[in-house]
Amino acid sequence: MLVCDCIGLDFDEIKEAVKQHGDDIEAIQDATDAGTICGCCTETECDKVDITLQEAIEKALEELE
Ligand code: FES
Repeated sequence: MLVCDCIGLDFDEIKEAVKQHGDDIEAIQDATDAGTICGCCTETECDKVDITLQEAIEKALEELE
């Protein structure tokens, strides 16, 4: 599941970052570089990705509960 098209980042990588940083989006962006190129995936909707960064973080938190 693609989360950031610009750097080819997958949901599994976000999940790993969430394990370490919880819902701290800035720390997750620092760790993964997600959303640091065009910014599309940090918007509420982005047609370049399967799931936006915020949605991916929420989904990861749910799965890690
Ligand atoms: S799609 Fe994530 S920065 Fe462009």
